[in-house]
Amino acid sequence: MGRLIGRLCRKGLGLASMVALVLLLPAVAANAEENTLSKETTACLKCHDKEDLTKTLENKETLSLHVSTSAFIESMHGKTDCEDCHSGLDAKTHGKEKASIASKREYSLSLQGSCRECHKKDFAKYEDSLHAALVKEGSKEGRKDAPLCADCHNQHTLRSVKILGPIAATPCAKCHEEIFKAYSKDVHGLERVAKGKSAPICANCHQTHDVKAASLGDGIKEACLGCHKEAVKEHKDWLPNAALHFEAISCPVCHAPGAQRRVNLRLYDEVSKRQISEKAGDPLFKKRTDAADLKETGLNELALYNLLKEFNKDGQGHVVLRGRLEVSSGVEAHQLADKSKAIKDCNVCHQAGAQPFQSVVLTIASPDGRPLRHAVQKDILNSMLATQSVKGFYAVGSTRIGLLDNLLIVVFLAGVGGPLVHIVIKWLFRKERRKNGAAAHADSQAQPGDRRADDASK
Ligand code: HEC
Ligand code: HEC
Ligand code: HEC
Ligand code: HEC
Ligand code: HEC
Ligand code: HEC
Ligand code: HEC
Ligand code: HEC
Ligand code: HEC
Repeated sequence: MGRLIGRLCRKGLGLASMVALVLLLPAVAANAEENTLSKETTACLKCHDKEDLTKTLENKETLSLHVSTSAFIESMHGKTDCEDCHSGLDAKTHGKEKASIASKREYSLSLQGSCRECHKKDFAKYEDSLHAALVKEGSKEGRKDAPLCADCHNQHTLRSVKILGPIAATPCAKCHEEIFKAYSKDVHGLERVAKGKSAPICANCHQTHDVKAASLGDGIKEACLGCHKEAVKEHKDWLPNAALHFEAISCPVCHAPGAQRRVNLRLYDEVSKRQISEKAGDPLFKKRTDAADLKETGLNELALYNLLKEFNKDGQGHVVLRGRLEVSSGVEAHQLADKSKAIKDCNVCHQAGAQPFQSVVLTIASPDGRPLRHAVQKDILNSMLATQSVKGFYAVGSTRIGLLDNLLIVVFLAGVGGPLVHIVIKWLFRKERRKNGAAAHADSQAQPGDRRADDASK
């Protein structure tokens, strides 16, 4: 009550008298439910709890002005007042004169800031997100608008986030429809429907408010391993150097068995140990790759060599390429199947002409964090071995690119064929086999803890 009086004083008499006026009308016999609302809020709802109250905006959109009293009371905001968020209304003219509102989007943008005061932490996280960066860039032709708080939360009717709704109610579904469809049929979507919260939905892998571009860094891998704590260990049982495979291959590559795969060469700064990103307002990547690839056939070896040189001249640090296997679309990243269908066959990758190496892209992060890509000719993976310029390439890149090294083995095997393949693979695994042998031996005497120590030391 003290709060209410305080607010009335602050707002001055204008709104207060409007409120009083509305309350005095004989028709306002408030029902029991409404009594939990402040007088002011009740007054607002007298006019606004009408389903047909609408307003035509300047772009001809129709904005419904209906706010349901019962839904508002039951909502998590039932104890806040309309004016906590709608502080800018002018009581003298409100409802009598038409206000000018350009579009629904403009209106949402104008009220976005009202959430900050009571939800500082979530607001700050959101402001650090890719979505918020896109909002700052503004609307763009051919792209959906990125979400504001009100796109994901209906401020007048929202219920506790602890209530588990149907998966289709996740706000992410309305903008990322195709990905949602894929997810709803994959191993996690099905598990979520069957068993509830233990299985992840969008926000569990991508963060709720602090959403970042999916293919940058290791964020999502860490989310996977956060739930699947035994995964590294379980893969080690059959996959040599599982940790390295996890570095170089995104999980869906093996776990979405039907996916197309590709090699992603990321521009990476060895000094700051980060993927490099475009500077805002100075888009060099597209300019340079377009110039280096006039025929649009994909960058060839020389073009890539020169490109690296240019990026190194910018003085961002020491730019190298880092290879990674990925699936080729966002939809495929959400078609995870159960483990019996996962790829275990080494030949899917360690074989001449292996499918994942038939498509190569070069990537840099754009200022908003999303990847910018340019196609690279797949021969680049072979020609590195064959020609002198490969050495030059390595000199510029300076570190050896692990992924490419192994591709070289692939190419080499292509040349020598059959029997040698096995000898080479055996040779590759000699260390591994010796270790396993030793581990098996040790296992018969030692505690499981020792095995873990061995794993950690790899
Ligand atoms: C006497 C009836 C009446 C009362 C009381 C009333 N409104 Fe309205 N309200 C309207 C009408 C009519 C419109 C549409 C005006 C227009 O076309 O611009 C409107 C528009 C709005 C809008 C959307 C457009 C804008 O101007 O921002 C909001 C938000 C709103 N009201 C909130 C409130 C709140 C909060 C209260 C209580 C403090 C309140 N209203 C009290 C009649 C009323
Ligand atoms: C927690 C903050 C908050 C509270 C409390 C709140 N509103 Fe709103 N309201 C908003 C925001 C934000 C929007 C803009 C919605 C959007 O972007 O779609 C909005 C929009 C509206 C609109 C325009 C139509 C619409 O739904 O977009 C009306 C009318 C309105 N509010 C009335 C009310 C009334 C009446 C109350 C009290 C019963 C109230 N609001 C309480 C935040 C709030
Ligand atoms: C892209 C969609 C999206 C946007 C944008 C968004 N939220 Fe959320 N928010 C969610 C989801 C989904 C949850 C539920 C998370 C869960 O179940 O843990 C949530 C949860 C919350 C919660 C509950 C507490 C918590 O942290 O889990 C609050 C408070 C909240 N959001 C406020 C905000 C505010 C304020 C904004 C704007 C700055 C905002 N949200 C923007 C999707 C969004
Ligand atoms: C005047 C303070 C206030 C403002 C402004 C406000 N909220 Fe809230 N909000 C609350 C309170 C209080 C709760 C209930 C929190 C609780 O009980 O944990 C709540 C709860 C929520 C929840 C559900 C949290 C949960 O744990 O389930 C979401 C989501 C949310 N608010 C979003 C918003 C959004 C979006 C806006 C801006 C349109 C906004 N809030 C503005 C006070 C506010
Ligand atoms: C089990 C974890 C997981 C869940 C749940 C999940 N994602 Fe993803 N998401 C990923 C992974 C992994 C990638 C690919 C990252 C990469 O390229 O390495 C991805 C990529 C994306 C991308 C980028 C696509 C592109 O074109 O590059 C979007 C957008 C996305 N997810 C949205 C969603 C939405 C919306 C949902 C819920 C319907 C969802 N994700 C659920 C793990 C998840
Ligand atoms: C109002 C529409 C909207 C909603 C709701 C929404 N997004 Fe987005 N999201 C976008 C747009 C627009 C982009 C940028 C274009 C793109 O990449 O599709 C984007 C981009 C992303 C990306 C980065 C894609 C990449 O290139 O790596 C991820 C991840 C993502 N969203 C996840 C989510 C999650 C998780 C939710 C729910 C918590 C969500 N989005 C809700 C519109 C939305
Ligand atoms: C080289 C391919 C490959 C990669 C990369 C890979 N996996 Fe697997 N994963 C498999 C195969 C094959 C199985 C089934 C093993 C079996 O049943 O013996 C499996 C099993 C699993 C299981 C079930 C474990 C169990 O035994 O119950 C989980 C969980 C899992 N993987 C998560 C991940 C995560 C998380 C990543 C990324 C960090 C990942 N995987 C990367 C091939 C891979
Ligand atoms: C919020 C926790 C959580 C996160 C995050 C998560 N998972 Fe899962 N995952 C589960 C649960 C729960 C199941 C179903 C029960 C089970 O089989 O373990 C499951 C099942 C799986 C399976 C099928 C295992 C089987 O036995 O057939 C694979 C494969 C898998 N997850 C991979 C991943 C990958 C890859 C990621 C990251 C992109 C990921 N998970 C992120 C919780 C999670
Ligand atoms: C989905 C593709 C894929 C599958 C399946 C796969 N690998 Fe690999 N493997 C790679 C890539 C890519 C690298 C290079 C990693 C790097 O150096 O960055 C690699 C590296 C290796 C290495 C070198 C490790 C080191 O310590 O340098 C060995 C050995 C190896 N793989 C063996 C296997 C065996 C055995 C299997 C089957 C049980 C297998 N791989 C399955 C893609 C795959």
